[in-house]
Amino acid sequence: MCGIVGAVAERNVQDILLEGLRRLEYRGYDSAGMAVLSRDARLNRQRAVGKVAALEACLDESPLIGTVGIAHTRWATHGRPNERNAHPHQSGESLAVVHNGIIENHEPLRTELEGQGYVFTSETDTEVVAHLLAREFNRSQDLLTAVQSAVAMLDGAYALAVMHKNQPEVIVGARKGSPLVVGVGIEEAFLASDPLALLPVTDRFIYLQEGDVVRLAKGGDIAIYEASGNAQTRPVQTFEHGDGAATKDGYRHFMLKEIHEQPQVIAATLEGRLTERHALVRSFGLEAEALFAQVRQIHIIACGTSYHAGLVARYWLEKYAGLPTQVEVASEYRYRQVVVPEGTLFVTLSQSGETADTLAALRFARDRGYVGSLAICNVPGSSLVRESDLTLLTQAGPEIGVASTKAFTTQLVGLMLLTLSLGRMRGMDDALQARVVQALRELPQLMGQVLGLDGDIETLSMAFAEKHHALFLGRGAHYPIALEGALKLKEISYIHAEAYPAGELKHGPLALVDSEMPVISVAPNDELLEKLKSNLQEVRARGGELFVFADERVSLTETEGVRVLRLPHVDEALAPILYTLPLQLLSYHVAVLKGTDVDQPRNLAKSVTVE
Ligand code: M6R
Repeated sequence: MCGIVGAVAERNVQDILLEGLRRLEYRGYDSAGMAVLSRDARLNRQRAVGKVAALEACLDESPLIGTVGIAHTRWATHGRPNERNAHPHQSGESLAVVHNGIIENHEPLRTELEGQGYVFTSETDTEVVAHLLAREFNRSQDLLTAVQSAVAMLDGAYALAVMHKNQPEVIVGARKGSPLVVGVGIEEAFLASDPLALLPVTDRFIYLQEGDVVRLAKGGDIAIYEASGNAQTRPVQTFEHGDGAATKDGYRHFMLKEIHEQPQVIAATLEGRLTERHALVRSFGLEAEALFAQVRQIHIIACGTSYHAGLVARYWLEKYAGLPTQVEVASEYRYRQVVVPEGTLFVTLSQSGETADTLAALRFARDRGYVGSLAICNVPGSSLVRESDLTLLTQAGPEIGVASTKAFTTQLVGLMLLTLSLGRMRGMDDALQARVVQALRELPQLMGQVLGLDGDIETLSMAFAEKHHALFLGRGAHYPIALEGALKLKEISYIHAEAYPAGELKHGPLALVDSEMPVISVAPNDELLEKLKSNLQEVRARGGELFVFADERVSLTETEGVRVLRLPHVDEALAPILYTLPLQLLSYHVAVLKGTDVDQPRNLAKSVTVE
């Protein structure tokens, strides 16, 4: 999705803004632009289609010089990705704005503004904001007042950063429905849609809240106003993950680095949350114990990979905690007439904490009689975290690759902690709890062993380089892992992949199986293994080429057309977490072979902040 960077500094800001944009590239975008106020208060702008490197080339030819500026990466929603539609948008030569989000009432506003003589040069909803702000500035001659009155007329979602040549030492920002943080520098102040953009200049951030408007001025002056217009103070938080999070550390891609970080981030997610035999309920917050005591069923809402984590958790919550569990994608849930049985806990999962549909689902759920809401999320200070009653923060650290990897497995760990916490309150067998706790402690080391199979998986991936389709099979809690494997493969290698519960094979998908259709299956040593083996026979009998990731204790022989990769034995409860890893590595290596843009696959964005 789009990215914003802004700076009111004591030095030329072009390089700060450019580096900020580079750090936001992972979010996905199709054009980039920058506007800087020169020392004689002229607004100068450069925009380019394509990568930030294209903008950089323009800036090399004609640099933007000045100490106040805003910049943007655009992911097209209204209007094609071309230079005219790229941000910043201007109203004449006076005002420039960058915007993330979607303005839903842009059409009536455009008609009104055209009627008042404003001339539009783009197809975007953002240009409406530029002219609206200019009109309000003409009325008040003050940028803060202009932004406050303009945002009151906007429906939809926005994060904005605005400059005006008549107040050349000021940037005003505003947020509603899209994230925006203030970077606190030394006598300098910054704005960005993601703190990662600003790590070279500060590690201190203020996370703006819904409806906030902020005025940054020379000397590092920062003033925040809530939607009512009252001045507010917000806490300054130190970014904990260090700047290493935004570098590849010698890996070829962020995705590969993040896959290999999993043992470490899972150990960090478990830190302080387990006793010898139990999971600690207070990991979910001080009110968790009282709230969990009322829980009789669960609704889990999420999107994409996070939704797959929810599907795995359904098996766990039903099996170990005896809790009926429904899992649904947020974009469907939010428009449904949901029936909420008494005692239902509302759970959201998100790596970003800003996914528009998941956030809208949380807000939709608010007045529907849930006992409370819980967010399992990776980003402290994100909207989902702030707006939920309870939170479990995973410790995945920033994830830069668009394809989610470590965020998924840490969510699964968080969901197993939830299962154990609720299970304990509902009479889950004590020895079983102790067994799973022990298995969780051993998990990082087992993950390290699976990552050691990277070379074998790379060899396996060669069989996929020329394929156009793939089928993933799993049973029980491994069906969602098959779904996740298929999503990873299509996302980054652009190979069409589908996943089925293996038992569904003969109800349709078997018709697709021939020598051109590789079939990938996960075969842990669990109660459904024998049934899965029969399904694999069905594939083999139709000439399908099989790739099986199997427990080292399973008797499965490698024959012609059947490749078996052995994984270390793992407790059945945690097998879905471990079996995710070879599927991530497989997709990664196939994508590298196909030469796709692994970290920023086409058409996708890291954080989907629009509906
Ligand atoms: O930030 P979220 O976890 O809410 O994001 C949900 C999906 O957009 C995300 O998981 C997406 O499916 C990933 N690109 C998958 O790798």
